[in-house]
Amino acid sequence: MPYNRITLTHFLLQDQRRLGGTGSFTGLVTDLIFACKMISREVNRGALAGNLGVAGSENIQGEEQKKLDVLSNEIFMHMNALGGAYAGMASEEMEHVSAIHGAGDGKYLLLFDPLDGSSNIDVNISVGTIFSILRLPEGASTIAEAAFLQKGVKQVAAGYALYGSSTMMVLTTGNGVNGFTLDQSIGMFMLTHPNMTIPADTQEFAINASRARFWEPPVKRYVDECLAGKEGPRGKDFNMRWVASMVAEVHRILCRGGVFMYPMDAENQAKGGKLRLMYEANPMAFIVEQAGGAASTGRQRILDIEPAKLHQRVPVILGSRNEVTRLVGYHSEHD
Ligand code: AHG
Ligand code: MN
Ligand code: MN
Ligand code: MN
Repeated sequence: MPYNRITLTHFLLQDQRRLGGTGSFTGLVTDLIFACKMISREVNRGALAGNLGVAGSENIQGEEQKKLDVLSNEIFMHMNALGGAYAGMASEEMEHVSAIHGAGDGKYLLLFDPLDGSSNIDVNISVGTIFSILRLPEGASTIAEAAFLQKGVKQVAAGYALYGSSTMMVLTTGNGVNGFTLDQSIGMFMLTHPNMTIPADTQEFAINASRARFWEPPVKRYVDECLAGKEGPRGKDFNMRWVASMVAEVHRILCRGGVFMYPMDAENQAKGGKLRLMYEANPMAFIVEQAGGAASTGRQRILDIEPAKLHQRVPVILGSRNEVTRLVGYHSEHD
């Protein structure tokens, strides 16, 4: 066990000293750390704490909420309101944005997916939490959704916690991507994955293949070419993975490359796609770009999308740069 590791808190303090910050951002991440540790504990206790199963309610997305969707949302709301850094919050599990009163003069906005991959909870497969931090625009009213509707390029920071075989936190503040593993025995996140980078090429793709009949021709073409292997136009074999937790898929891509697709399909067309722009696609796109990868709808860079509404959905294609570029090329050839 190496004793030269640094904690996430010390990592942030080093950054703060280097950039001459006031410490308000460091404080804000401290609240995020605490919130994710609490969710990690609840996920980990699982059936022992009666945490599995459905809550008996539906969210604004029309999805059946799991008990842990609701509990994680409550934990995230409560813990992140304590430090007074935020003026408002928005979540997958809440129809409207929520203004934060009382704790202080918050300058930031927090958007989050409290529990990503919640269809995996009851079967003990990895889930996660995704978060995106924006600045409160000058003169904005926090209660208004409009304050949150900023392009992904405006994110100050983004990250996720992965509740997997280890609990990890992966974070970017626009200066690369770093990963921290929770040492359960001391309750601290330690820097274990400095400067995570995504290889430009890969032989692995992730897509829910049960939806193949709904795909558009460019995605069909791409997947067919991968499946054709060595004998096909790509001249190499590809492997396929699908966890059904975006956090787990993105983490795998950050660790060893790959491409993740939840593309536009005929069934999701009316909704604009499956994944949500503000608290799934944007934070993940920011992380992936910061790690040297790319993130697109197939037709537009995700971080450049001008959001129209809080729960907006978009097609998502992200990961190894050369594969995303190829997919974007197939879309433009087709259109
Ligand atoms: P959430 O659990 O937060 O609603 O998100 C689920 C998302 C994402 O994590 C995953 O990539 C995708 O939905 C899985 O979709 P399928 O069930 O269609 O595979
Ligand atoms: Mn959901
Ligand atoms: Mn999600
Ligand atoms: Mn979720």
